[in-house]
Amino acid sequence: MSTSPKKGCIIVTGASRGIGAAIALGLAQAGYAVGCLSRSGETPQITGATPELAKHWFSAKCDVSRPEQLTAAFADIAQRSGQPLVGLVNNAGIHSQDRVQDIAEQEFKNVMDVNAYSVLAASQTIYPHLLENKGGLIVNIGSFYDKLGVKQHLTYCATKAAVGAMTRCMAVEWAPKGIRVLNVAPGYVMTDFNREMIQKGPLADYLAKRIPSGVAGEAQDIGNLVTSLFVLNSPYMTGETIYIDGAHGMLQ
Ligand SMILES: NC(=O)c1ccc[n+]([C@@H]2O[C@H](COP(=O)([O-])OP(=O)(O)OC[C@H]3O[C@@H](n4cnc5c(N)ncnc54)[C@H](OP(=O)(O)O)[C@@H]3O)[C@@H](O)[C@H]2O)c1
Repeated sequence: MSTSPKKGCIIVTGASRGIGAAIALGLAQAGYAVGCLSRSGETPQITGATPELAKHWFSAKCDVSRPEQLTAAFADIAQRSGQPLVGLVNNAGIHSQDRVQDIAEQEFKNVMDVNAYSVLAASQTIYPHLLENKGGLIVNIGSFYDKLGVKQHLTYCATKAAVGAMTRCMAVEWAPKGIRVLNVAPGYVMTDFNREMIQKGPLADYLAKRIPSGVAGEAQDIGNLVTSLFVLNSPYMTGETIYIDGAHGMLQ
């Protein structure tokens, strides 16, 4: 096993809160500079952030579904951090819920844009930077819903299945360039946004029965896994979807 000696700057989309903030924290703790993108442009809001760690963060406003904003934000972060862009975490995502017969065209296209098209657009934007560094790692954040049939979740499930497919296609095309692409697919994860809903009420009862490990994950679980993928330089590992769901998705 070799650990990566390569430091530099890793862009994390949707880093202002939730899972993205936990990834930004983990990468900063591992010594990377982190470009933290979100529409608000806020610094990651997360417990455990010290002023010392916050020096690793370079926040910028960017709507990931807008390629011209991605290009400007990546260039701005490379310049402000003074470090080469060596990786990307496509984490930004939105949720959508509706019965199949009621899904509106515009809603479907909007969620597809933010959750799926942005993965392609941001990966295309980082590509020349990674080529310059003779390789790098892109980690997409999918969902265990990518392989499930979930009532009232057609749109969200379709976007996350697309993320898994894009991961595989990018991995095979870019492997000869030394660029690896992985898909981390979480199950239910508690963030500030959904913590109450996951811990109390009917969803809490359902999850206690359905998740073999007994509880939903924490954003930190995903942050630690994604950070370890960057720290552990594993050249043969690419294209794969890694499920992190307490075995929820495989329960019969
Ligand atoms: N939480 C879960 O249970 C769970 C489970 C499986 C997968 N996931 C996936 O994990 C990822 C993060 O989820 P989360 O629960 O941490 O979500 P969250 O708490 O709602 O945070 C979403 C982040 O994305 C940013 N964002 C949203 N739309 C954006 C856009 N168009 N451009 C740039 N940034 C945007 C938000 O900031 P702004 O609002 O400022 O833009 C925020 O930083 C998503 O891809 C989600 O599908 C989550």
